[in-house]
Amino acid sequence: MVKPDPVVSSSHVEFHINGQKHSVDASSNVSSQSVLADYIRDVANLKGTKVMCREGGCGACTVSARVIDPVTGIEVIKSINSCLTPVLSCDGWDVSTVESLGNKHEGYHVIQKRIVNFHGTQCGYCTPGMVMNMYSLLGAKKDIQMEDVEKSLDGNICRCTGYRPILDAFKSLATDASNDLKQKCSDIEV
Ligand code: FES
Ligand code: FES
Repeated sequence: MVKPDPVVSSSHVEFHINGQKHSVDASSNVSSQSVLADYIRDVANLKGTKVMCREGGCGACTVSARVIDPVTGIEVIKSINSCLTPVLSCDGWDVSTVESLGNKHEGYHVIQKRIVNFHGTQCGYCTPGMVMNMYSLLGAKKDIQMEDVEKSLDGNICRCTGYRPILDAFKSLATDASNDLKQKCSDIEV
């Protein structure tokens, strides 16, 4: 999990959320205190992204962002705590929320299917953040290992399901997934 740089880059920024362009500046109702999580929910009206602790501790607000690394100049994909991210620091970002992955009308993304089929969700409050963290990991690294999954999810808290089914669901997407997990997938997906 990447804690975003809190530095506000500009008073006028343009970015995309799920492919849609957003232009904001400090003269609109977006201030230097406005955070991406609230913008996503209240302005973009995408309620799939949840907000709980507002201090980077739970991962409920996790979204995926395609950004240019300021040091290397290379485009990277990161999972972002949107509750800590000032909207005015998002210039040039390409943000994806859970709504962009899949839905009941058009079909679900494989990550969404796995967490459901491994019984990795109960109340579902943590689930969008979990899914977007995994989506970012898969976007950032093609050959993910089970250890990558464990390390990546250390910033996402679940209060009711328990971590075993969540980790199993995501580890089943790793190239070194155990035979047990692979067997479960083949049972599920026929
Ligand atoms: S609401 Fe953002 S990490 Fe908890
Ligand atoms: S499913 Fe309830 S908090 Fe994770």
